[in-house]
Amino acid sequence: MLLSNLITVATTLITSATAKNILLTNDDGWAATNIRALYRDLRAEGHNVVMVAPAVQMSGNGGKIQLPQDTNLPQDALFDYPPAGSPSWGHEVDDMNVWYFNGTPAACVMAGLDYIIPNYFNNMTIDLVLSGPNEGDNMGERDFVLSGTVGSIYYAIERGYPGIALSGANGNNSFFKDNLSDDPTQAPNINSRKTVELVNAIFDKQGDNPRALPFSTGLNVNFSPIGSDITTATTQCDDLTFIQTRMTGSNAQVYEIVYNSTTNLVSSTSILSEAVENCLAGDCSLPSDFVVTDACYASITVFSIDADVSSTLGGDILSKFDSIIS
Ligand SMILES: *[C@@H]1O[C@H](CO)[C@@H](O)[C@H](O)[C@H]1NC(C)=O
Ligand SMILES: *[C@@H]1O[C@H](CO)[C@@H](O)[C@H](O)[C@H]1NC(C)=O
Ligand SMILES: *[C@@H]1O[C@H](CO)[C@@H](O)[C@H](O)[C@H]1NC(C)=O
Ligand SMILES: *[C@@H]1O[C@H](CO)[C@@H](O)[C@H](O)[C@H]1NC(C)=O
Repeated sequence: MLLSNLITVATTLITSATAKNILLTNDDGWAATNIRALYRDLRAEGHNVVMVAPAVQMSGNGGKIQLPQDTNLPQDALFDYPPAGSPSWGHEVDDMNVWYFNGTPAACVMAGLDYIIPNYFNNMTIDLVLSGPNEGDNMGERDFVLSGTVGSIYYAIERGYPGIALSGANGNNSFFKDNLSDDPTQAPNINSRKTVELVNAIFDKQGDNPRALPFSTGLNVNFSPIGSDITTATTQCDDLTFIQTRMTGSNAQVYEIVYNSTTNLVSSTSILSEAVENCLAGDCSLPSDFVVTDACYASITVFSIDADVSSTLGGDILSKFDSIIS
């Protein structure tokens, strides 16, 4: 056998050894450019990807479970793709692996795990659930509780699956048929490339372990502004560096509303808050994931779905009302 053939065989073996089954969703909708770029690139790596994502824009829904109320779409899907009156869920005509579902992101994960994969994919085992990359970063506790991107992932983790929430600083809501290009300098392609890098690194380390990440844990990943297509892109930055971050810490923010007496309307804005800067668990020396806003990072926050406090702090709090505890 020629050496080049041997190399081809070896590469094929390596690829198939790490090829995994991935469930992919987002909150911006199945027709968004970011998720289509990631789908394309995960498939190109040999992974078996099933995408089940909302029919319409579903940002800000957290872990809300909202199911279709009808057998057909009462309104046009995002970018009219597909139009009102189409079934409440369906797949691309030429690709059985790409589905929309008229529900929230968490509901899309449910639809994938409990209906689409059992019925259309021979109930295959899902190795990893991914959500995003979201159009706009999801940083800190602020977004952990409200982001549909993150909410779909903590739902997946509640079901026992390893999950990763992904968010990009490219906030534009764009239709994949207009905006999906192969230009490696564009934000959707950069974020997708970094995601594939991360996912493959995790799968490589997984080896024979049945789980990619420990039970009840997940990752929240945010990409700094980068890309030839976004004006807010960090200057002097042609690649993102992965760093470990945490959900609370210095510069973490929360939303507040501001009342305008001229318009009699309110708008929301972000402010600093000591409460979300406070470190109660984990490595307090890590920076908050808000560092991605003015740097050149792909931040990775490791979280668990166990939100209980430490036993010391819990005991301290309990002592304030222990007369009523049996
Ligand atoms: C699919 O597989 C899971 C896990 O093995 C099992 O609990 C479930 O009953 C199966 N569902 C169907 C519809 O076969
Ligand atoms: C996306 O496509 C639309 C329609 O073709 C275009 O107007 C817009 O500028 C594009 N945006 C980007 C970021 O390329
Ligand atoms: C959104 O798209 C427009 C048009 O392509 C571009 O000028 C702008 O920088 C984009 N903004 C972000 C945040 O991606
Ligand atoms: C209130 O709204 C008006 C009209 O849009 C605007 O001109 C003004 O700057 C706003 N005031 C504040 C304090 O944001």
